[in-house]
Amino acid sequence: MMNNKIYENTPDNIEKASEIIKNGGLVAFPTDTVYGLGANVYNAKAVASIFTAKQRPTFDPLISHIADIDFLPQYAQTDSRVMDLAKHFWPGPLTFVLKRTDNNPSLDLVCSGLPHIAVRMPNHPLALKLIEQSGVPIAAPSANKFKCISPTTAQHVADGLANEVDMILDGGACKIGVETTIIDLTGKKIVILRAGGLSKEDIEAYTGEEVLVSSGHANLPSAPGQLLKHYAPKLPMRINVNEDDVSENEFFIGFGNTPKAQLNLSPSASLEEAAANLFAFMRLAEAQNEYNSIAMAPIPEYGLGLAINDRIRRAAYKE
Ligand code: TXA
Ligand code: MG
Repeated sequence: MMNNKIYENTPDNIEKASEIIKNGGLVAFPTDTVYGLGANVYNAKAVASIFTAKQRPTFDPLISHIADIDFLPQYAQTDSRVMDLAKHFWPGPLTFVLKRTDNNPSLDLVCSGLPHIAVRMPNHPLALKLIEQSGVPIAAPSANKFKCISPTTAQHVADGLANEVDMILDGGACKIGVETTIIDLTGKKIVILRAGGLSKEDIEAYTGEEVLVSSGHANLPSAPGQLLKHYAPKLPMRINVNEDDVSENEFFIGFGNTPKAQLNLSPSASLEEAAANLFAFMRLAEAQNEYNSIAMAPIPEYGLGLAINDRIRRAAYKE
């Protein structure tokens, strides 16, 4: 079905979208990771409408998207470690949690009242043009209803939020397919709050330091949005299932050498390919009428496998 909220990637449409952002509306836009639901960070009413549109609790803060590394020191507390990481990994699938320095009251809601702010620079020309032309950072969560699967195409956004959003900019399928890796840079050690599109190994190779992974324990800060049940498909899901243990009424999503799989995340066992396919395949799987659950093959726990396993564990979590 055609959706009249979806707009092609043209200079006119980007201009139109930036006017909507400036005027306090909501624009869904593509990034390198997943589609975002964007609003002007300096318009508290617009930011509040993100939470309403997604039915998301306001204790879950939003990421600010910027288009220029030089803007970062005006917005958050930086030091040479932060700027070096930004220069190396931005634009790209990495979000920083930093001390907030901008006292504009509309950021209270963006940060959910926390003294910290999350910032990233997406690696997608359309997103960067939209932010530049809007002239403000854009607050954007993933463009899906709370607890649903993140969107990796414009149509996914329309399926969940067509009535809530003013415009959906179509930039094609997202290349990375899982959300950013979020790192806390407010302490001495770098701590991953959410595994994502940039691997721990890549961060460690660049910094030469051990990077910690937050397990959500009280002694380590954690991304408040990391609820156990998240990314929920409509059918129940089992993970780490070997091909021979799949039952007849289960839709099997394979990985690597799994010839009996209905869909295979990556026949060649590439974790990058698997991440890019993950959310779209989970959407396809949950839409199957003739199956009553989803089974997924084991995914190795390194590189992007950390992010993939994090998402499917949450999808499979039983309350
Ligand atoms: O790839 C992505 O990061 C996508 C694209 C659109 O940029 N965005 C995204 O946003 O995944 P969202 O809202 O679905 O997830 C953001 C996560 C939440 O878990 C939130 O709790 C955490 O970031 N977060 C935001 N601000 C934070 C802060 N100040 N401190 C700790 N965690 C924060
Ligand atoms: Mg999300």
